[in-house]
Amino acid sequence: MKITSIKYSNLLIGMAFVFAAYGKQPDGSIDQKVDQLLSQMTWEEKIGQLNQIASYGLNDDIAARIKNGAIGSILNEVDPKTINALQEIAVKDSRLSIPLIFARDVIHGFKTIFPVPLGQASSWNPLVVENGARVAAVEAASVGIRWTFAPMLDISRDHRWGRIVESLGEDPVLASRLGVAMVKGFQGDDLSQPTSVAACAKHYAGYGAAESGRDYNTAIISGEQLRNVYLPPFKAAVDAGCASVMVSFNEINGVPSSGNEYLVKQILRDEWRYDDIVVSDWHSIGELVPHGFARDLKHAAEIGINTTIDVDMENHAYLPFAAELLKEGKIKEAVINQAVRRVLKLKYELGLFDRPYIKTGNNVMYADAHLQKAKEAAVESAVLLKNENNLLPLSQKIRSIAVIGPMADAPHDQMGTWVFDGDKTHTVTPLAALFAEYGDKLKINYAQGLTFSRDMNRSKFSQAVEAARASDVILFFGGEEAILSGEAHCRADIGLPGAQRELLAELAQTGKPIVLVVMAGRAIEIYRELPWVKSYLFTFHPGTMGGAALTDLLFGKAVPSGKLPVTYPKMVGQSPIYYNHKNSGRPAGDDLQTIENIPLEAGQVSLGNTNYYLDAGQSPLFPFGFGLSYTTFEYSDLKLSTTTLDKSGKIEISCTVKNTGMRAGAEIVQLYVCDRVGTITRPVKELKDFDKIVLQPGEAKTVSFTLAADDLKFWNNHDEELLEEGDYSVWIAPNSTEGLESSFTYLHGK
Ligand code: GLC
Repeated sequence: MKITSIKYSNLLIGMAFVFAAYGKQPDGSIDQKVDQLLSQMTWEEKIGQLNQIASYGLNDDIAARIKNGAIGSILNEVDPKTINALQEIAVKDSRLSIPLIFARDVIHGFKTIFPVPLGQASSWNPLVVENGARVAAVEAASVGIRWTFAPMLDISRDHRWGRIVESLGEDPVLASRLGVAMVKGFQGDDLSQPTSVAACAKHYAGYGAAESGRDYNTAIISGEQLRNVYLPPFKAAVDAGCASVMVSFNEINGVPSSGNEYLVKQILRDEWRYDDIVVSDWHSIGELVPHGFARDLKHAAEIGINTTIDVDMENHAYLPFAAELLKEGKIKEAVINQAVRRVLKLKYELGLFDRPYIKTGNNVMYADAHLQKAKEAAVESAVLLKNENNLLPLSQKIRSIAVIGPMADAPHDQMGTWVFDGDKTHTVTPLAALFAEYGDKLKINYAQGLTFSRDMNRSKFSQAVEAARASDVILFFGGEEAILSGEAHCRADIGLPGAQRELLAELAQTGKPIVLVVMAGRAIEIYRELPWVKSYLFTFHPGTMGGAALTDLLFGKAVPSGKLPVTYPKMVGQSPIYYNHKNSGRPAGDDLQTIENIPLEAGQVSLGNTNYYLDAGQSPLFPFGFGLSYTTFEYSDLKLSTTTLDKSGKIEISCTVKNTGMRAGAEIVQLYVCDRVGTITRPVKELKDFDKIVLQPGEAKTVSFTLAADDLKFWNNHDEELLEEGDYSVWIAPNSTEGLESSFTYLHGK
């Protein structure tokens, strides 16, 4: 039969069958290899696979333990030669030649450092996040790291908490989308690719709800908040094929995650059908003892194993006690076998049995393409929060600028927290970029004023004031050193550290316009200083290329498009503060009696009696989803395809967004819904979708979203997922406090 007589599609189908039969093995072969290997393993070798230790280089003790099969994975070894040497012992000297996995916290870059995750979240651009993780994976895998402990998916509502910087913000939909993008970036399409790195959704769960924003602290979370707010990003990551999950240090309602069978077995394993690795956090198994949840390390090991936490990170709890626990009937061999299967499966999936060693010498670090992606990410992560009289972008008429502040030239701190391998000599600081780009066009008067963010020494203030007086505009680079956010780095006062406020006050006295640029790992309490500055650009910690990105933004080569992934409080006392809050029975209006104007001897019931602060009102300084541009956007013509939605139906919600300014710009269009009445109270607003669009001056686009009944589901406090009839409000909006509003009704219908 002549080929031409076969339909092309049939030919393709035929080829697919041939390929499947003789080409790539079916998945089952990994399972078969795992079972075959497992059947040969001794008990000690099995427990060894569950043992993850931190690396202290190659020494006789480590070599012996690897040779005896007592170690399954190693954390924090990043020297490729040492990695190969350790791997060679595992492959050549251990009885079953099971390779090791090498792991590292590659959180927002390996060598090329991207903006901190909360900064990347401000881009609201999954591609920015995926690109960042992809670059990080390529660089980390090039030294032999094949397992990272990211994305961090903890919903964070409290800026006192040091780890808010590592999160993707306060909203479950935004964190879910970006978390999935990060998993994809790290893992690529195929884990067996040499540049693929296994991701790890952490910290499961509720870690961001630590009481009073203090790290590792108690978390009291209602069932509906757990299900509706804290768990969705983990479910999204699991559904996206995230290779591992890490349990958190904290307890939820009295049960630490490292021993929480409801969280791990009932929800993660049984309900979500997750059968990949669950790893403890560092020492978190042993910390069941100080939690008061385990009598001793042996009891902690028993709890961890029975909670199906497969890998014991650096706690040495499983190795010494598993045999005794088995003998005493406190753990089952089947549970251990399943845990070992998960570890072996990942090693096969990563291709470590076929390619255990890393090719040394191929230097991909700081490749131009990586630096370019890092700069693009830093541009999209910056949030313009104030821009009086459109001072930014700086006018071409400006002849001189004063560059002042502790973060103007802080190559280490600009990278932010959770940077183990980034090299500060590669950081492009704002000062360096400004001189490189404009040193021959402008008079740049640099006077640090303070040498580091916590500096209280005012001896350099006069130089700074002098530089300001000699300049047309002041660029003040302030914020936090990297160490002031991140794990265990919580702050009860989230204002500008050191004497930055005092320095700003003196600069404000000069009458020169001030552009305030803040690099920080959290929202900085700035309500006192804000009136002194014309423009406020918030960049979190922008990473290696932050200075180049900021220079483009300040001079208009790039246009700010970031929007807040967290609510920005006026005062720390408002924490925790978030947009998707409940309305309460006494929601505060706008006409509030505030502390400044309470009459003397005011009567007990004369003040509002609604839920607000006398000294801070009820609204934040800047709302979730807020960010300015150098252009303006107009929203009009909101349309719904129907005002009644039923179980099988969908609603198309659209509006026109127009660029009404003089510059091209990107706008993050947001879709919010409010379930007006429920059998439990529902948030005043919930983000359901978003889209980032680019519009030329004068250009208008129709932005449309689709809502289905499933998007209205929520959980109550009895572990029931509900979909309830009733009236819903809907907005298409530029942020969580504005927008075009309409409504629809949901009826179960036919
Ligand atoms: C830390 C962190 C966790 C990290 C792990 C390994 O304590 O809680 O995020 O991945 O230990 O460094």
